[in-house]
Amino acid sequence: MNKKETLVIVLVALSITLCVQHYEKNIYPHKEELFTTSTTCSKCHDRLIDVSGRDVSIYSDWQQSIHSNAAVDPYFLAKLSSETAEFPELKDEIEAECARCHMPLASAQAASEGFKLTVSEGLREDYEFHDFAIEGVSCTICHQIENRDLGKESSFSGHYVIDFTTKKPQRKIYGPFDPSWPELMAGASGYRPVKGEVVERAELCAICHTLYTPTIENGKVIGTFPEQTPFLEWLNSIYSQNITCQMCHMKAGKAKVTTMPKNAPLRDMKAHYFVGANVQILKIQGDEVGAKRSETQLKSAARIKIESVELEKGKIVIKVTVENFAGHKFPTGFPSRRAFIHLFVEDSSGKVFESGKYYSDGRIEGEDEPFEPHHDVVGSEGDVQIYESIMVNKDGRVTRTLLEAFGYVKDNRILPEGFEKSRAHPDTLVRGLAATDTNFVGGRDEVTYIVKGNFSKPIRVVAELMYQPVSYPFLRSLHPTEQTKSFEAVIGKVEKTTLVSSDVRILD
Ligand code: HEC
Ligand code: HEC
Ligand code: HEC
Ligand code: HEC
Ligand code: HEC
Repeated sequence: MNKKETLVIVLVALSITLCVQHYEKNIYPHKEELFTTSTTCSKCHDRLIDVSGRDVSIYSDWQQSIHSNAAVDPYFLAKLSSETAEFPELKDEIEAECARCHMPLASAQAASEGFKLTVSEGLREDYEFHDFAIEGVSCTICHQIENRDLGKESSFSGHYVIDFTTKKPQRKIYGPFDPSWPELMAGASGYRPVKGEVVERAELCAICHTLYTPTIENGKVIGTFPEQTPFLEWLNSIYSQNITCQMCHMKAGKAKVTTMPKNAPLRDMKAHYFVGANVQILKIQGDEVGAKRSETQLKSAARIKIESVELEKGKIVIKVTVENFAGHKFPTGFPSRRAFIHLFVEDSSGKVFESGKYYSDGRIEGEDEPFEPHHDVVGSEGDVQIYESIMVNKDGRVTRTLLEAFGYVKDNRILPEGFEKSRAHPDTLVRGLAATDTNFVGGRDEVTYIVKGNFSKPIRVVAELMYQPVSYPFLRSLHPTEQTKSFEAVIGKVEKTTLVSSDVRILD
């Protein structure tokens, strides 16, 4: 090789290096990892017992929660594939939208590097931050959210603020205490624990649990639609004064927050399974302990009561009330949730009336197409009281496609205690016939059943309040894709309807 050739090679190598550096600087300005997987934290924040001897292990509890399954939840993946089948030209945008909440670690990591992560990319095993993606809603997202714009609209729909610049081991992890040994954790994990009241506020949960979904028409976004609003419902309830989301959804205990050091003080801590009502999905994941826990939470949510049964000439009149004890509407959250009343009447000759009979596929007898209206009085077996929200598109047609939804034609989900219809945030208004039903009020609804005919005592009435996380119309409306077919196969194996509460009255 002569001098000239060597010079050319050196120049080429130099310019390639410069190009790569320039490229990396622009595409990946912060190649620094902002997050870490939960196994880093499990070393110290697991195997914990509270003073009463209950297991309050943070990592194991979280691992059994829906949060840890958010990215791989088969219902989420099925619904996503169904939505993108309807809007194939917007697939990447839609997936990036969902990733913000269902894959927040990888999504925020990507955002810090200047691009939008899609769910498909996050699920690819060779993707650089695949481990972050499949963690779902994990430790280092919730505990790194900054106290900025909390409770404001700009923070909703998953617009959490994460520090993109500080490097490990100076990155902060916010918690409820003044830690005694911050260095220990900083050294082992790269994160320094500090006190930050943000974690104790409902506004933290509101970031992902207030969801405005874009409405799409002809490939264009024409507005936004309030898909999930438990926080806005909670604001208009008695609970907003002193009962936060954390108090009902995280178990309390008095324990050490870490297995080390040995002489650590006991703290009032809240453990981490974020129990909700989604019994079915936990059963599908094979998590019987979590499913049982959710069922207990669900049963604490509401109560049905037969207030009176009167045998009159030519009819029986039955008054039933349903009370809501949750901190928001019941049901709340994802729009496929619904509750309904199953009422059964017998006289001396046997069954004389049944409203709300249901089948193993989730179908409810008497449910009208395209939806069943709210009832104050149920006068025939063809009517059934269903507590649900029904979405419509821009032209007023009923839809179960999230990205087509423009508003609600019905929302008679039972209001939380203290909810005043007149003070409601416009995105939480009661819709349809319940709006003018005078006994559909904060905390409760009353329904009158009139059974016509001549009957003889004894009269036996059974009332059951039932719950479905994935309603029959939502399940049926899924577009056939690989993911929806496999979801239908797994949900076919579990009970689709769960009993919340029941009552019996006998008139001798
Ligand atoms: C080497 C052990 C260790 C590891 C690993 C560890 N921590 Fe900690 N963590 C501690 C100790 C010690 C404290 C302080 C306890 C005290 O002072 O009572 C603490 C405190 C906390 C607190 C409460 C802080 C406060 O101010 O209220 C949070 C939240 C926390 N850790 C989260 C995490 C997360 C998330 C991870 C994983 C990224 C993690 N920890 C990894 C040991 C550890
Ligand atoms: C980074 C976004 C994010 C934050 C912050 C967040 N969540 Fe969630 N949460 C989710 C997602 C996504 C799901 C749904 C996962 C699924 O079903 O696939 C969920 C599900 C839940 C559920 C449903 C569980 C069930 O069994 O039905 C409860 C309860 C819950 N979260 C409570 C909370 C509480 C309380 C807070 C605040 C301390 C909170 N979440 C903060 C994203 C978040
Ligand atoms: C959905 C958000 C969320 C996720 C995910 C989450 N945490 Fe927390 N964590 C909280 C909140 C909120 C609190 C404070 C609750 C309070 O005091 O009101 C908390 C409190 C803590 C505390 C203080 C002790 C206690 O239990 O109150 C530690 C330690 C902690 N978290 C560690 C972890 C670890 C480790 C993980 C992952 C395995 C994790 N957290 C996942 C929201 C979350
Ligand atoms: C007074 C207790 C209480 C408070 C306060 C409370 N919740 Fe709930 N929450 C419940 C109960 C009980 C359920 C189960 C019944 C249901 O689904 O409505 C539930 C269910 C949920 C679900 C799961 C719904 C599903 O589809 O499985 C989510 C999500 C949720 N709550 C979020 C929140 C958020 C966010 C806050 C704070 C803004 C909050 N909750 C405040 C008691 C409470
Ligand atoms: C702003 C945060 C956020 C975004 C963005 C988001 N989700 Fe969710 N998603 C949630 C929360 C919170 C829940 C839990 C509500 C509940 O349990 O009722 C949830 C629950 C679900 C569920 C029910 C899961 C189950 O197991 O029952 C499906 C399906 C779902 N989301 C689909 C999607 C799709 C598809 C997208 C994108 C088009 C999306 N989500 C975008 C926050 C979000």
